[in-house]
Amino acid sequence: MTDAKKLFIKTYGCQMNVYDSERMAEAMGAEGYTLTEVVEEADMVLLNTCHIREKASEKLFSDLGRLRPLKDARPDLKIGVAGCVAQAEGAEIQRRMPLVDIVVGPQAYHRLPALVRGSGPQVDTEFPPEDKFDHLPERRALRGPSAFLTVQEGCDKFCAFCVVPYTRGAEVSRPVDRILTEARDLVSRGVREISLLGQNVNGYHGMGQGGAWTLGRLIRALAEIDGLARIRYMTSHPNDMDDDLVAAHGDVPQLMPYLHLPVQSGSDRILKAMNRKHTREDYFRIIDRIRAARPDILFSSDFIVGFPGESDADFADTLDLVRRVGYGQSYSFKYSPRPGTPAAEKPAVAPEVADSRLQELQALILDQQRARQEAMVGQEVTVLYEKAGRQAGQMVGKSDHLHAVHVNDPSGRIGELVRVRVLASSANSLSAVKIS
Ligand code: 5AD
Ligand code: SF4
Repeated sequence: MTDAKKLFIKTYGCQMNVYDSERMAEAMGAEGYTLTEVVEEADMVLLNTCHIREKASEKLFSDLGRLRPLKDARPDLKIGVAGCVAQAEGAEIQRRMPLVDIVVGPQAYHRLPALVRGSGPQVDTEFPPEDKFDHLPERRALRGPSAFLTVQEGCDKFCAFCVVPYTRGAEVSRPVDRILTEARDLVSRGVREISLLGQNVNGYHGMGQGGAWTLGRLIRALAEIDGLARIRYMTSHPNDMDDDLVAAHGDVPQLMPYLHLPVQSGSDRILKAMNRKHTREDYFRIIDRIRAARPDILFSSDFIVGFPGESDADFADTLDLVRRVGYGQSYSFKYSPRPGTPAAEKPAVAPEVADSRLQELQALILDQQRARQEAMVGQEVTVLYEKAGRQAGQMVGKSDHLHAVHVNDPSGRIGELVRVRVLASSANSLSAVKIS
């Protein structure tokens, strides 16, 4: 097909955006667009944006600036902005950047094909009454054996620093039958691992047989699907780790022993100011309950340093919490005031103080990550091959504990689950040999 139109998508931010980008690619696929990785040959460029921190938002405007020569050379090139910056800044984006043809929010992207068909500037940042997922084409399993599946969107927690409740809106859970159908469809296309996504995924309460289901119940139903070898979920709030979900970590073998459970800070004072609604002791208790169900589980977390009012003592509490929990990995960010959030009104911590705290925390997190990886050397682990490695005969995949693993296996196939023995640990991955 020589006249197929080409779509270039750039995705910023979280996995939910990755999922949305795939769904938008599928929707545009039904309009005759195929994906390209070369922006110069695209008929349409779609930037799927993130608003979580200022830096992420700013990237959009610098990338748009870089697209200007392309648009000048080919005025029929369509430029679209999707995602949370589109939601938050709507028509303003077009005012600031007239080269943008289409602005579409995260709840309205099923209408993207219609917006592209329209002429002149188009903006749709509605929270429409219809469910976008019911108006999208079926899945195409674009990312190999490991797929994302959004089960819940939005957030009602209103952490004092976070824009998500405003950009993504209130919590909405997709109905059980739609999720099971999408999961079966993905598995029939060769998917072996599904990561359930939601901004507050363990707050899931979608309608199923007999009423609203919890995430634990949904996971148990997904585990019945033949051929689905692995289930993961993210991102979870500590307060929504109910007993059944915790128990599932012990008795659902497909549920992988890795959990992203952000705590943000180790200081009770800061947790309160952040409106997290739990203390550090509550968090330790939750970690203990999950470890009792699944002793080998690895945890990861997000941390914010330099939240307004954070003192040296508060930060010391965060370091202490990290030492006590012992994370497999973690992400840490310097606090970024976001428009419209309560914390943005408060006086900021001096930037150089925040910088040095960030460095100190990241060094500790890296030490822990290295130590956890080192501890895997000599162990047998299971790996799901996701792609061929850079070296000849090499396969790359993830272990149950989400470590990236390189395996020398010339006959290895993508989608295969293999047992390997870990030989060595390097900066961000393990290397291993297949056990025959
Ligand atoms: N500043 C810095 N980090 C933030 N996050 C969310 N909002 C902000 C902000 N205003 C971080 C949190 C969250 C992760 C996705 O991004 O740690 O868990
Ligand atoms: Fe944002 Fe997560 Fe807090 Fe919701 S729980 S407001 S998404 S940080």
